[in-house]
Amino acid sequence: MLVSLFLLRSVVLKHVVDFEGWRAAARSLALDHIPPEQTIWSVEEASDLFAETVTAAPQAGAFSVPRGLVDLAETVIQVKDPERFALLYALIWRAHGGEKHILDDVADPLVQRVMRLAQSVRRDTHKMRAFLRFREVTELDATRYVAWFEPDHYIVEANAPFFIRRFATMTWSILTPYRSAHWDGETLRLAPGARAAEVPDDDALEAYWRAYFSSIFNPARLKIAAMVSEMPKKYWRNLPEASAIPDLIRHARERTETMVEAACLSPVRPPRPRVHVPGTRGTPPADTPLQALAAAAAACQRCDLFRHATQTVFGEGPATARLMLVGEQPGDQEDLAGRPFVGPAGQMLNRALIEAGVARETVYVTNAVKHFKFEPRGKRRMHATPNSTEIEICRFWLDQERDLVKPAVIILLGASAARAVLGRAVTIARERGRAIPMGDAKAMVTTHPSYLLRLPDESSQQREFAAMVDDLRTAHAWL
Ligand code: URA
Repeated sequence: MLVSLFLLRSVVLKHVVDFEGWRAAARSLALDHIPPEQTIWSVEEASDLFAETVTAAPQAGAFSVPRGLVDLAETVIQVKDPERFALLYALIWRAHGGEKHILDDVADPLVQRVMRLAQSVRRDTHKMRAFLRFREVTELDATRYVAWFEPDHYIVEANAPFFIRRFATMTWSILTPYRSAHWDGETLRLAPGARAAEVPDDDALEAYWRAYFSSIFNPARLKIAAMVSEMPKKYWRNLPEASAIPDLIRHARERTETMVEAACLSPVRPPRPRVHVPGTRGTPPADTPLQALAAAAAACQRCDLFRHATQTVFGEGPATARLMLVGEQPGDQEDLAGRPFVGPAGQMLNRALIEAGVARETVYVTNAVKHFKFEPRGKRRMHATPNSTEIEICRFWLDQERDLVKPAVIILLGASAARAVLGRAVTIARERGRAIPMGDAKAMVTTHPSYLLRLPDESSQQREFAAMVDDLRTAHAWL
């Protein structure tokens, strides 16, 4: 889907490895002479187990760029980095603009970067093929083979055909944090991922499998007919998860209400003692206090937002940064990537920082709330504004980030960030741009980049963008 946005074109891809979508958009952008710096790429990931369709291996096809570049893009699209779409488009743009042999220029920084990414996907693919281990899960007279794997990249879709060829006659499931693949001997079904923190080691896998099946079952989208046709009743008894199905249907309404309410105002609980970092097993080494804090936050259950989010999205940037940017909460893409401001709002923020002459890598970027709060709507996860209690509960982490980083200037992007740091409701239009003393530091309130993305017309977008750049420049000058 292509949406025009003042100087920008926003491309929303269907899922994290939507190669066909990316390729069609890249072609259309190049033909429209839209340079890479005027594009914003994002993913609208479906989280519906039963509606999600199987993706066949992407088709090769004619595109007016060298075949090698298309092949490379097919690999690099699997990289777990939201920038991949834009980087690949930058390559396409140059090839289309006459640099047909761009890939031969091995000294070119863009080529080097994309090649490194491709290499990283190949290494990950090799690891998955070589080290994935299935464990047998038995119920009644049927056997399912279940494997847990934590890839560095989005490689399940591209590798599923390999496992189908190798284990064609087995019934198997591969679970990863972002995606699961289920093969029944005839059909491949792709579904949302499993929670790394909950996957047990060998023994309890069967019990986990049942719980996993319940967790990916989204009650808000319960379609009993679809479910039965996906998994005919006569086969239920053969599946380890079958015993969960009647209960799931019975409690669907109740669970939907809980999800939609998602005000998540449960009392403050101490964090779980076990520290888990997404994408890892067990307790990671923490070299610095900030890393230790991030590791502890990864296990946060202080409010209920953790229940539906993929992972904690902690702040990132130098521990010695003099400038801190505080946003509201991770969005859909940040939730999947585990990093703040990498989706459309992040790309808008990056643009504003560049325009203001601020290097993002020198800034500590974080959020008032560390888990993605959303409401399911159809296949989409719609942003839901955190309430004041959630902001207050999550301040536990933000305060410690501020204590450790000790920024001289804190820029508060929008009302939620302002509430978290200033402890009161703020009207952005009234208070923006001025210095608010905070002990040894100064804070400044400005608009949130998502606000710019929502403005309906180009002239107000341009005006607000310029105002935001002005604020960033002013705050930077205070350093
Ligand atoms: N919006 C935010 O406030 N923070 C993010 O990290 C992304 C979008």
